[in-house]
Amino acid sequence: MKELIIAPSILSADFSDIATAIKDIEISGCPWIHLDVMDGHFVPNLTFGSKMIDDIRKRTKLFLDAHLMVSNPEQYVQEFKDAGANAFTFHYEAHIHHCRLIDRIHAAGMLAGISIVPSTPVHILDELLPLLDIILLMSVNPGFGGQQFIPATLKKVKTLSDLKKQNGYRYKIAIDGGINADTIRAAWEAGIDVAVMGSAFFNTPDKASFIKTIYSSIS
Ligand code: DX5
Ligand code: ZN
Repeated sequence: MKELIIAPSILSADFSDIATAIKDIEISGCPWIHLDVMDGHFVPNLTFGSKMIDDIRKRTKLFLDAHLMVSNPEQYVQEFKDAGANAFTFHYEAHIHHCRLIDRIHAAGMLAGISIVPSTPVHILDELLPLLDIILLMSVNPGFGGQQFIPATLKKVKTLSDLKKQNGYRYKIAIDGGINADTIRAAWEAGIDVAVMGSAFFNTPDKASFIKTIYSSIS
């Protein structure tokens, strides 16, 4: 049976105390850290760049999952690899030559992911499905933590899950936005492999028991 990967997003952590956030993620047993990179152009918010990833890499061996909400993702491939990112996910809407960028991410030695915003239909990814390691479905409009889950995303999860089974594709299906104790079960049942969690994780004082509760709620 496959195991759900929970990827806490440090977007909802205290940026003045990222070391504690990393420890909290490690203690809770989550294998991935989700890193929301925003440029104030593709999305109306600014966060951080490769220096943050480099600093985090010095403190942890966990899988670093970079989610680039930026207008020019191709500019950052080598820089993010050098900083220690394991996966590089860019937005379909931010780029034209998707195959070439996926090749460059693989050549740099990272897993390649594509994300789509809620208004982008999932079938637009058809030609790219065999090439991808991660498909990150946004279940809120990207830019901020703490927004409400958009239930229509579940249909996209199911579509990708069915296509994966039918064709033997390798991509992991990730969902990002509004995932918490109330929404995770439906996402799991629809077929996700990875659940990104920002505010639900960081707003909970006892994060390790919270993660245990999440796992028991889907088993
Ligand atoms: C939103 C980011 C998310 C965000 C999720 O644009 O991509 O990763 O951290 O936060 P929550 O879980 O609070 O919706
Ligand atoms: Zn994200």
